[in-house]
Amino acid sequence: PVTVYPDQRSASLAVAARIAKLIREKQALGKPAVLGLATGVTPIQVYAELVRLHREEGLSFANVITFNLDEYYPMLPEAAQSYVTFMNEHLFAHIDISRANIHIPDGTLAPDAVAPFCLAYEKQIEELGGLDLQLLGIGRTGHIGFNEPGSAPNSGTRLVTLDDLTRRDASRDFGGKQNVPVKAITMGIGTIFKAREIILMAWSRKKAPIIRKAVEGELSGEVPATYLQLSDHVEFVLDEGAASELT
Ligand code: F6R
Repeated sequence: PVTVYPDQRSASLAVAARIAKLIREKQALGKPAVLGLATGVTPIQVYAELVRLHREEGLSFANVITFNLDEYYPMLPEAAQSYVTFMNEHLFAHIDISRANIHIPDGTLAPDAVAPFCLAYEKQIEELGGLDLQLLGIGRTGHIGFNEPGSAPNSGTRLVTLDDLTRRDASRDFGGKQNVPVKAITMGIGTIFKAREIILMAWSRKKAPIIRKAVEGELSGEVPATYLQLSDHVEFVLDEGAASELT
């Protein structure tokens, strides 16, 4: 299903409220809430609202376990552009989550340690009973996580090569495309699919063409997000701009 909100803010508040509800429901059962998280500009207001709910409305993250979708490779965690830095700045530094419960693909691994790390990442998620909820943005290539065109629908966590358009879109953060890493570690489409609930968010007209393809286009490996059409537990959460090319 597709839900269109008047603007990014109202949509972000609604998504944050759903996450808070899930966390509280799990808390009441004495269970962890296992969340799959995204970086990028899209979820920033969701995270800001979660921080506000923590500060002002007593929402605790003590029972929350997180797995981030992806990280550039190679990437030092302390680098300004790392997804570790992003998550700390926008969420983790401001809430009561246990450091041990945070998982982000490791951009510092030696090449031969990447594949075992990826398998272990999958296994950790599985042993916790899977992701309760996966948050997604969408890239202009149609990528979810860093599953670029050509990714297999059953792909798992792995090392991938970034699309040229993705590197161009990231070039501002890195002061030029030449500084953007060529590779990344990402959860696979198969990993994302196993989540019990998937929320893909997109804001502004800039995302309208790719949202149209993702929601209404023919199923194709050329637009990995079209695979989400096969899922019965995915919701596209859009503002009016991102929804503006839907028929
Ligand atoms: C980020 C991620 C990417 C982004 C996508 C959109 O962890 O996996 O798929 O969600 O590139 O990025 P923004 O939100 O910056 O437009």
